[in-house]
Amino acid sequence: MKFEEEYYGITATNYENRRKDMKDWNNEEAALQKIISELSVVGHKKLCILDLPCGTGRWIPHLKPIADTYFGVDISKDMIAEAKKKITDIEFPCNFFEDTWLDYLTRTEDKVDLIISTRFLMSWDKKTSRNILELMAQKSQRFLILEIRITESRIEQLKLLFSMLIFRPKRILYRLKNYPGNLTKSQLKTFYLNLLKKYNYSLKKEFLIKESNHSKLVIWFLESNNSTF
Ligand SMILES: C[S@@+](CC[C@H](N)C(=O)[O-])C[C@H]1O[C@@H](n2cnc3c(N)ncnc32)[C@H](O)[C@@H]1O
Repeated sequence: MKFEEEYYGITATNYENRRKDMKDWNNEEAALQKIISELSVVGHKKLCILDLPCGTGRWIPHLKPIADTYFGVDISKDMIAEAKKKITDIEFPCNFFEDTWLDYLTRTEDKVDLIISTRFLMSWDKKTSRNILELMAQKSQRFLILEIRITESRIEQLKLLFSMLIFRPKRILYRLKNYPGNLTKSQLKTFYLNLLKKYNYSLKKEFLIKESNHSKLVIWFLESNNSTF
């Protein structure tokens, strides 16, 4: 089943219960809580927030101190139905859109102050996730909270080393430029950060969610240099 078709029916109704005792779920909650308290200490005007994909709206109850308006976008009507159950005691306006990331980000022109995107970017190939990152960086004018997987394939690293020995440097540069999947963890991190830098975003904080030998899952809190916060 394709990622886009997975979150319907019982998968949507059981989504949070199946995950709420898992370490990475709780690390994500702790990271978001820290970022939200940092933003609320700043104490400025409240924010217009886009949660993409909103899923079951897990962040809605946490956003009270900083939310002026909330937009939740998700392809799954069943996940949105779960998210709507969370808004009974919520004072800020919550709006939901059953839409794809591509349609929503390219069709709507209004800017937001903050985009939250968790458990999403790592499900796409590098080219698509780059596209999503660029559209999100253009849509938000102040902050981004992004969960990113930085992977390192040893086989790819060996191939790269081998090509360095055999081919001309020009060829290596071409590979590094065009195949970010072949970069090592720190190179891939630099690649993503340079991409976001093009849109004036810089990394404020990184939270480690999960780590294995070849891959690291992190939440990045990025701030636009144009932000007046
Ligand atoms: C793993 S859940 C993450 C939900 C939430 N952000 C969280 O942290 O729990 C992935 C979500 O992406 C949504 N999704 C999948 N493909 C999508 C697409 N093309 N556009 C928008 N949402 C999509 C699914 O319906 C699902 O709710």
